[in-house]
Amino acid sequence: MTEYTLITGGCGFIGSHLIDQLIKQNQPIICIDNFDNFYSKENKLLNIKHAESSDLFTLIECDIRNISLLNTIFETYNITSVVHLAAKAGVRPSIESPSEYFDVNVNGTVNILETMQKFDVKKLVFSSSSSVYGNNIKIPYNENDNVDFPISPYAASKKAGELLNYTFHKLYNIDIINLRFFTVYGPRQRPDLAIHKFFKLLYSDKPIDVYGDGSTSRDYTFIDDIISGITSSLEKLKNEKNIYEVINLGNNSPITLSELINLIETTTKLKFKKNNLPMQQGDVNRTYADIKKAEKLINYSPSTSMKDGLHLFKKWYEENN
Ligand SMILES: NC(=O)c1ccc[n+]([C@@H]2O[C@H](COP(=O)([O-])OP(=O)(O)OC[C@H]3O[C@@H](n4cnc5c(N)ncnc54)[C@H](O)[C@@H]3O)[C@@H](O)[C@H]2O)c1
Repeated sequence: MTEYTLITGGCGFIGSHLIDQLIKQNQPIICIDNFDNFYSKENKLLNIKHAESSDLFTLIECDIRNISLLNTIFETYNITSVVHLAAKAGVRPSIESPSEYFDVNVNGTVNILETMQKFDVKKLVFSSSSSVYGNNIKIPYNENDNVDFPISPYAASKKAGELLNYTFHKLYNIDIINLRFFTVYGPRQRPDLAIHKFFKLLYSDKPIDVYGDGSTSRDYTFIDDIISGITSSLEKLKNEKNIYEVINLGNNSPITLSELINLIETTTKLKFKKNNLPMQQGDVNRTYADIKKAEKLINYSPSTSMKDGLHLFKKWYEENN
């Protein structure tokens, strides 16, 4: 019987790249997505345009809060592993609508776990986030650091997801890897995220908002490196039992906002117009991943420099706008 990997939120930025990679590896996929209005359905359909021509790909429009439809999907297809990426993403908007974020990110995650337990599906990769570290003082951020101090509802919802995952692992022996992604960028990046937003404004000759003095830093991680971390995690889950892990997927090489702005200017040979504004609530001062655990457990080795990654983003942006 065909064994399927279920990808939730598969029409989004990270999900669509994962689907492309799994199709290359000849793996049958069920993709579910509700085309959440955080950004346009049109963009998401473009993300999966190539995948749709493959026999290995099945798209089902489904909200992870719809437990009865989830039951029908698990009943219909022999799903053996799940990569759960569906979420309300974005730190700042979560401050405006915390209950909506918790509804999708927490209740939706329980629905996935409950359905997995009911249909005896034992392998889960969960998309957590570097934001769970809050304003951690110690760098680089290590998986053993205390993450009890999230500074946005989004971060709290991701931490809640990790906690639920632990509970289901303990109660029902579901093998789970929580991957904490550090600011992912590359082709198809979400339009609300800094690099994509900056390119859009730069190319339309509009000013960018620069929050703070430019010294905040992020451990930007290229999408291909994130995808190799996800597929290695799936392999590990397939080959081993009794697994519950939390693993950082970052670049271990943060750059400041000012450096990012300079790098984009060098890449595009254009100059930004800037609005300087105070720091925003919910934004952390920096992110910096310790990736030793990822290297050890899943052979993770990010290989795309910021310079190369920005060139690849520029190429995609110019072809698609
Ligand atoms: N991109 C990053 O830098 C980053 C960093 C840390 C964590 N993450 C996490 O990784 C995951 C994927 O992020 P992304 O950047 O690809 O975001 P994205 O918004 O591009 O993709 C998420 C997808 O989930 C779908 N979705 C939202 N609510 C849903 C629901 N109720 N039911 C079904 N589908 C739903 C959306 O329509 C979208 O296609 C998210 O969980 C996000 O929180 C992303």
